Amino acid sequence: MSIIGETSTHKARQAPNDGQMVVAVTAPLSGCAALVTGSSSGIGVAIARELAVAGATVALVARSRDGLEAVAREIEAAGGRSLVVPADIAVPGGAAAAVDRVVAELGRLDVVVNNAGVALPGSMVDAPESEWAAMIEVNLTGLLSVSRAALPHLLAAAEDPLRGVADLVNISSVAGRRAPLGAGVYAATKAGVIALSESLRQEVTARHVRVGLIEPGAVRIADSELRAAQTAKVDPDATPATGIELLAIEDIAAAVGFMVTRPRRMAVNEILIRPTEQVK
Ligand SMILES: NC(=O)c1ccc[n+]([C@@H]2O[C@H](COP(=O)([O-])OP(=O)(O)OC[C@H]3O[C@@H](n4cnc5c(N)ncnc54)[C@H](OP(=O)(O)O)[C@@H]3O)[C@@H](O)[C@H]2O)c1
Repeated sequence: MSIIGETSTHKARQAPNDGQMVVAVTAPLSGCAALVTGSSSGIGVAIARELAVAGATVALVARSRDGLEAVAREIEAAGGRSLVVPADIAVPGGAAAAVDRVVAELGRLDVVVNNAGVALPGSMVDAPESEWAAMIEVNLTGLLSVSRAALPHLLAAAEDPLRGVADLVNISSVAGRRAPLGAGVYAATKAGVIALSESLRQEVTARHVRVGLIEPGAVRIADSELRAAQTAKVDPDATPATGIELLAIEDIAAAVGFMVTRPRRMAVNEILIRPTEQVK
């Protein structure tokens, strides 16, 4: 676990232009604990940075310990706080054990971002069924398992006068709204995330747990494992956007940061973000 530094200024500040993170003490999530799945690479790294800059102690959850530790070192160097929690959310008990450990070590849970995802596009006629299972197990079952384990703690945090509200943010995809050719199962998992988010929102919003949904279009990710898995395949998120200026991971993280730092009275339920030039 790396609990790093006390901070002393009064406002959260965004990273300056040189790309350096700066964490401030009475930032909007000071005293809060956040958990981000899939924070060893890609969009999840940017979300973890964003929440650390906002003052949260960020539990970093993914399978790759090395990847998580690199992110933790970066947060630490910026004066932030993090907790490395290697876990496979797709195996039975993996998600619950990760959430239990976070709450045992940080004492609370205020923000959960279900970002971990797998995209293995392929034809419905001949794609291996094992790839469909892999997507369903992470994108749906894993997300549900994390959410179920986290909800009692989010409900408790919402009763805490510190903020009086808690946040669960699910990362879906534009593909969940408009299924692309050749990625039917990925799109189905992301459409499923949209459906279950809305149902859960209705279940817990009166108890001040805000359920937010973010649907990114094509994001530029240099060393994404999701991208690596798609070499020689059609990328369901990038295909509609070949040759255009893609979103940055920070664009998605900023949307998450916006959602979870609104006043208690205000729930931003859904944000769909496309690159400006992405038509479909
Ligand atoms: N990139 C895009 O254009 C785009 C567009 C729309 C939506 N999205 C969504 O955004 C999210 C992040 O995607 P990304 O592009 O940043 O992909 P990425 O770089 O491949 O990151 C995926 C993350 O999920 C983690 N993960 C995968 N399986 C896991 C498991 N069983 N248990 C725990 N963690 C697991 C990976 O870590 P480990 O391998 O270390 O476990 C990694 O940190 C996904 O939900 C994706 O569907 C992406």
